[in-house]
Amino acid sequence: MHTVTQPFSILSEEFEADPYRCFAPLRERSPVHYEPALDSYFLSRHRDVRRVLGDHAAFTTETLQERAEPVMRGPVLAQMTGAEHTAKRKIVVRAFTGQALQDQIHAIRTDAAELIAPFLPRGRVDLVKDFGRPLAVFVTLDILGLDKRDWRQIADWHSGIIEFITSLALTPERRRHCLECAEQLEGYLAPVIERRRRRPGDDLISRLCAAEFEGTSMSNRDITALVINVLAAATEPADKSLALLFKHLIDHPEQLAQVRRDPALLPAAIAETLRHTPPVQLVPRHAEQDTEISGTIVPKGATVFCLIGAANRDPDAFTSPDTFDIHRPDLGTARSFTAAAQHLAFGTGLHQCVGAAFARAEIETVAALLLPLLDQVRHSPGSRYRETGLYTRGPASLPLDFTPVGEGGTCHP
Ligand code: HEM
Repeated sequence: MHTVTQPFSILSEEFEADPYRCFAPLRERSPVHYEPALDSYFLSRHRDVRRVLGDHAAFTTETLQERAEPVMRGPVLAQMTGAEHTAKRKIVVRAFTGQALQDQIHAIRTDAAELIAPFLPRGRVDLVKDFGRPLAVFVTLDILGLDKRDWRQIADWHSGIIEFITSLALTPERRRHCLECAEQLEGYLAPVIERRRRRPGDDLISRLCAAEFEGTSMSNRDITALVINVLAAATEPADKSLALLFKHLIDHPEQLAQVRRDPALLPAAIAETLRHTPPVQLVPRHAEQDTEISGTIVPKGATVFCLIGAANRDPDAFTSPDTFDIHRPDLGTARSFTAAAQHLAFGTGLHQCVGAAFARAEIETVAALLLPLLDQVRHSPGSRYRETGLYTRGPASLPLDFTPVGEGGTCHP
């Protein structure tokens, strides 16, 4: 087994380079790891992570007041509880289920076909930079009903917001930059919200404008926060999941061949990708009382981080957890995108991901479109695969080669 350098730190280069190598020693020897530099506890066992995320009275999302609210410009869904959470979560869910989901799948296919088309004759694409990242932003802009011509600007503001939420340590300059991004996005959204109040469409912003909570409509501040919440939550993990899916399938050619032969296996491949390499690696909580976890007392007031990647590789939850296997019997494809999921990539409990079913539909639609087009897909010669990020994690770039599609080739959505 890999041993970790003592004293081990979550902030070490070793962990940043490959956290997966550190998870087994952490789970076995320090399942409730205290990180002095962050004054926080890191949990790595599946049962401990499930318990903390499932007990929303003892472990609250108060951490988000500092970590998210300044850039969301108001309270986000994950900060809410009780009737307010139920009501607002329902409004958000309706924007990407049922008929709304069917319409979005059509839009996703069209966007994906347009984005990949210029790369087909070249036989080369960076699946993150050229395709996955713009696609993830386009898809979210469609949900929100924002103008896709502004996508680059919105993507830049979005990056600043994500940097704020996901940085474990931020310099004062970067903090200022992130807050400016959020202010500018808020300024961009204000006239859009006003217009939707007057002339609603069927997008999420219009639904939020029309919705009432306890007899009154939501303020611009509340709507802005929920819009930025969805923009951040839906965009960041989507392109990472798609890239990770292709990376795993390329690295397991026999499983890639099976998925090509039988695209009905795609949901299993997506679920296994999310278990094996969850794009959201850290989920924070605030301890409301002294609590014993795996023999350690976590004191009242402490910040607790759930290490989702470690929990998903716990041998107490999955056999041969480090093996990528789309046929593993202990995952369960259908339940992997519901509250009954055994993997924790979407979290669990009250704040479990509201977009899990949508994420499945999005990734499945895009992968089903790409696989027949990218014949003989492989890592580009000379490229070196590298993942980055402690909070959210995935490749920043994934250069792929494939058999060029001739002039006559098409990619109808
Ligand atoms: C593979 C893709 C995705 C992954 C891995 C993922 C992961 C997560 C996780 C781990 C949480 C729990 C956070 C917590 O407990 O504090 C969460 C919550 C959330 N996610 Fe996702 N997510 C994905 C896609 C999406 C999409 C596509 C949307 C929107 C369309 C979305 C919207 C949300 C929202 C609004 C919440 C907060 C829910 C609440 O507090 O009630 N996510 N997500």
